[in-house]
Parts: sequence; structure tokens; C-alpha cells
Amino acid sequence: MVAQSPTPAQVQTEDGSLTLRARTHGETYHSRHGARQESLHVFIDAAGLAHRLASGQVSILEIGFGTGLNLALALDLLAPDHGSLHYVGFEPDLPPVSARASVLAAGGVTPQSADRVLQLANHGRLTDTGLDLLLRTEPFPAPLNSRFDVIWHDAFSPANAPELWTPDLLAAEFTLLRPGGVWVSYCARGAVRRALQDAGFIVERLPGPPGKREMLRATRPL
Ligand SMILES: C[S@@+](CC[C@H](N)C(=O)[O-])C[C@H]1O[C@@H](n2cnc3c(N)ncnc32)[C@H](O)[C@@H]1O
Repeated sequence: MVAQSPTPAQVQTEDGSLTLRARTHGETYHSRHGARQESLHVFIDAAGLAHRLASGQVSILEIGFGTGLNLALALDLLAPDHGSLHYVGFEPDLPPVSARASVLAAGGVTPQSADRVLQLANHGRLTDTGLDLLLRTEPFPAPLNSRFDVIWHDAFSPANAPELWTPDLLAAEFTLLRPGGVWVSYCARGAVRRALQDAGFIVERLPGPPGKREMLRATRPL
């Protein structure tokens, strides 16, 4: 029998949106200072997603799909007549659908984007005009044929998920990005920054979302 993690609790965050708390180690899936604010700041704005989508096709790799809030916020940026999104997310421990639906509903995303994200988690793949979304319910790293414009590294912290922050894994992510592509994360640890630099990235420390001084953006040089 497959061992299942205990159901995560729902937690109210300071911007009024919800997150989940993992019962295994107590870490929340998003910042307690604001789940929506953190997603928008780190994964949408710092990745330049609006601009990238306005100029054509964007492909995103997400390590840690969780509730799908990052993806739902990205879908809200897609205009019906231009721009297209190719997305691959990894999540070996999908939270229960009721918990995911609550976080999406409280996260200020459109009902259509929330519904698409919930459908993706049900079926594993969702395609529509301008959309090709794939959710792999297995741990990253795993073989991938595509290359990406953006990597959302949204794993639990190095303290609770050290295997997702090793120099080898970050170097593997470098090879999964297209030249000019960006890797973004809420984490600003010095060891992570140095590992990204050693992998070949140009690394910037940017102001973090509310409650956090810094975050990291790493660009694969052209
Ligand atoms: C910080 S939460 C992600 C929050 C998520 N992006 C959201 O918008 O709700 C970290 C997630 O990483 C997942 N995770 C754990 N090990 C993983 C692995 N090896 N590969 C991919 N995801 C993993 C956890 O189950 C958890 O859902």
C-alpha cells in the first residue's frame, strides 16, 4: 500500500488568500504574509510572464505544483486571441481536491482558470486553443524532452526538502532552460545562489514579496 501524507491544514494568509500547511513538517505551501502576493511577485512578475506571453509562446516547468495557484494566476494572463502556454508541472503528493479548490477560490483567480487547473489535476493533461498543460504526479527530477522559457522552482525549503536544492539538481535545471530563459524561486539562500552561479546562471537577488527581504532570479545566458 502507498503511504499517504496526512491531509494539509488550510491557513489564512495576511493578504486574505489561503495556503496549506504540510502536516509532515509544518511548512506552508506559500508565504504566510500573502499566498497570492507571493505567487504574483515571485512566479509571475519576476519571471516577466505578462511580457513573455504578450510576445508569443511560453513554456513553463514547475517543480512543486501543489495547489496549482501559480499556474492559475498565469492562465489569467492569457489573452484569448494571442500568446500560448505550454506547461509541465511535477507533484508527487497532490493535496486533496477540496483543499486545492479552497486555495484557488481564495486566491483571486478567475473561476475559469481555477476550473482548468482542477481539471488538469483530474486528468493529467489539458489542451485547448493556445494551451498545453501536463501534470506529472511523480517526483522531479525525471526525464524530460522539452526545453523551457521559465522554471518555477517552488519546492519546500532547503531545510525540509534538501534533495530539491542540491548543486547537481540545480545544474540539471540549467540544461532544461532555453538560452535567455529564467529560473525563479522565493528562496534567497547563499548556498543556492552560489550553486546556481556554478551551474552557469547569471543570478540576481531581487526584493522579495511582502515579509521577505530577497528572492532569486537566475537567467541562462544567451
Ligand atoms: C511550496 S509547495 C508548492 C506550492 C505550489 N506551487 C502552489 O502554487 O500551491 C511545494 C510542493 O512541492 C511538492 N514536492 C515535494 N517533493 C517534490 C518533488 N520531488 N518534485 C516535485 N514536487 C515535489 C510538495 O508536495 C509540495 O506540493
